[in-house]
Amino acid sequence: MTTEQLGPQPLRRIVFSEEDIRGRVAELGREIGACYTPKDNLLVLGLLKGSFIFVADLVRQIPHPIHVDFIVAGSYGKGQVSSGEVQLMYNPRASIEGRNVVLVEDIVDSGNTLKRLMPVLMERNPASLELCTLLHKRLIRLPREAKWVGFDAPLEFLVGYGLDFAEDFRHLPYIGSI
Ligand code: IMP
Ligand code: MG
Repeated sequence: MTTEQLGPQPLRRIVFSEEDIRGRVAELGREIGACYTPKDNLLVLGLLKGSFIFVADLVRQIPHPIHVDFIVAGSYGKGQVSSGEVQLMYNPRASIEGRNVVLVEDIVDSGNTLKRLMPVLMERNPASLELCTLLHKRLIRLPREAKWVGFDAPLEFLVGYGLDFAEDFRHLPYIGSI
């Protein structure tokens, strides 16, 4: 279905408020910080575009010197159901080899993106690779499951705080369902 077919999309409800998100992101930052030392050369790698707000908030809660970079992988287009095709437009500036990498994702739905992406990143010989996702629909268990999950997500289409529907709603400071 396209936005045009659906018409204007009012939010059905707020699922995670600004306050819920702020509190949980602070906890995640502390939890991630506790797993590394300042010498660990941590690289936080955000998956664009959906993770951009989460990464911005999360890195400010990690109490270590870190580097931040982004990669792009897309599968969704304009619909609400994953097409199953994952495009990797992958060219991080920062080298991954020998780095302790935390990949940051907005939401794990079918898991197709991460099932494809994690092996690609592993080929670059990071010292370690862990996944932090803000939301997890728990539809699948990933081969390399997320070490940090912000919230278990309801099986609804969620928007806001970086998540979009046909590029709308990314800017909302909370997460709602449409
Ligand atoms: P996957 O199905 O786990 O591969 O999800 C791929 C990507 O689809 C996620 O990183 C999100 O960007 C997007 N996505 C999945 N579920 C939702 C949703 O409920 N709202 C908005 N985007 C979603
Ligand atoms: Mg995403």
